[in-house]
Amino acid sequence: MASPAELNPDYRNHPDNRAGLDHIPGNWGLPVIGETFPMIKDVWKMVDEHYKQFGPISKLSAGFQKGLLVVGPDNYQKIYLDREQVFSTEMGYDRSIGQFYKGGLLMRDGDDHRFQRRMFQTAFKNEPMRGYVGMMNPILRQHMDAWQGKPDFLFFDAIKKALLEVGAKVFIGIDDLGEEADRMNRAFLDISEEGLMGLFKWDLPGLKFHKGMNGKRYMEKYFGDLIPVRRQGDGTDMLSFMCKEKMEDGSFFPDSDLIPHTSFLLFAAHDTTTSALCHMIFYTAKHPEWQDKLRAEAQALGKATLDYDDLDNLPLMELVFKEALRLRPSVSMMTRRTIAETELFGRNGEPVKIPADTMLFIPPVYNHTMPEYWDNPMQFDPMRFAPPREEHKRHSFSYVPFGGGAHKCIGMHFANMLAKCFMHQFLLNYKYSVAPDYNPHMEAFPLPKPGDNLPLKIERLQ
Ligand code: HEM
Repeated sequence: MASPAELNPDYRNHPDNRAGLDHIPGNWGLPVIGETFPMIKDVWKMVDEHYKQFGPISKLSAGFQKGLLVVGPDNYQKIYLDREQVFSTEMGYDRSIGQFYKGGLLMRDGDDHRFQRRMFQTAFKNEPMRGYVGMMNPILRQHMDAWQGKPDFLFFDAIKKALLEVGAKVFIGIDDLGEEADRMNRAFLDISEEGLMGLFKWDLPGLKFHKGMNGKRYMEKYFGDLIPVRRQGDGTDMLSFMCKEKMEDGSFFPDSDLIPHTSFLLFAAHDTTTSALCHMIFYTAKHPEWQDKLRAEAQALGKATLDYDDLDNLPLMELVFKEALRLRPSVSMMTRRTIAETELFGRNGEPVKIPADTMLFIPPVYNHTMPEYWDNPMQFDPMRFAPPREEHKRHSFSYVPFGGGAHKCIGMHFANMLAKCFMHQFLLNYKYSVAPDYNPHMEAFPLPKPGDNLPLKIERLQ
């Protein structure tokens, strides 16, 4: 039987389907902007209103795209597992990040994606991961030490900077923390803070998009020059492992694939882990009893920094990591586009026809708070993940901060490791708090974070 991509070989060149959705409940909201502003203001509230009014599938126009808002674990199961090979990530993300990250792992479908994912296999094995821990610990420590004497500082800004340096070292092996790392980081930030935010997608001087494109050109040239160097060397950074990976015929994967993978890897790793750590600190500052428990657990381990083998010995930290990502998943909206006609589940599980070339908006946070699957879902309560409650096991796709299926986050364990390495050192070195009535607006775009960048009071412990 032909695959949907074979039946619809030209699917990349089709425009999004906006007709043929009359049978789907909902409306397109305001002309042009649709519900972009309500979504940016409070994505959970916007989704909740849709779900209550229209059920699990409804029309949504947002971010200059029209498609369907989809919620519910049964739908996510079908989309992530994608047994019919009908949900394209490449086209789902094409208009939001395609101009900067085309060719990255998430921007590939089907057999091509499966083949490319092999390039990452050694880089994420136990032994390399062991090495990454050794690389990140001293960088985290150095940054943390510099925070001393700054009793009120913005945690988001500080951790973002620290993780840029961790990324430069671990992902591409930049040792010197001077000019080279600065230029790389600048190019990277020009893409995420300027290019991706630009309203007008023209590569013309003066526009944000142009600044982003210059960043992309710089990074691609930089990686292009670096790959042969890393191939010759004995580096233990991710790029060194990836560029030595071979295809079945014994040749290396081509640079034209490695370059976009490396750019996307940095992008996929940085904001997500920055956001996750921001929320772990936010919740443990708001719930000092949990901060105390984590500190006691860290002290009981009896060592200043974690080794790779310690990662499974911090059960409470694991619960807090999970709960922070339940309430505030780092990716606010995943997207797919259908390659061929298919069906999803509407109210009461009834089948709903979804035509080809339809954009799907998939916000994980709503599944994470559906009262059918979670007790007191809006409450910070890490114990919900521990036995005997284990609420996340009520449905395999009610908890999806890392997605699922073939595109499930390849850096999930890395993110967990980085979060634990940071938290361990921070808990041992500082006590931290927020103002008693602290209740900032929580942003979801471009990345989830407290809107005021998390002003934190810190007190040195040792
Ligand atoms: C808390 C941190 C992180 C979160 C919450 C997160 C979340 C996600 C999610 C939801 C996806 C799937 C998107 C989709 O299906 O549409 C994904 C994919 C991906 N993530 Fe992560 N991520 C995190 C950290 C990282 C890190 C540290 C790396 C790299 C070391 C990374 C690399 C990737 C890559 C390469 C993909 C694409 C996988 C594929 O298409 O096969 N992520 N991530």
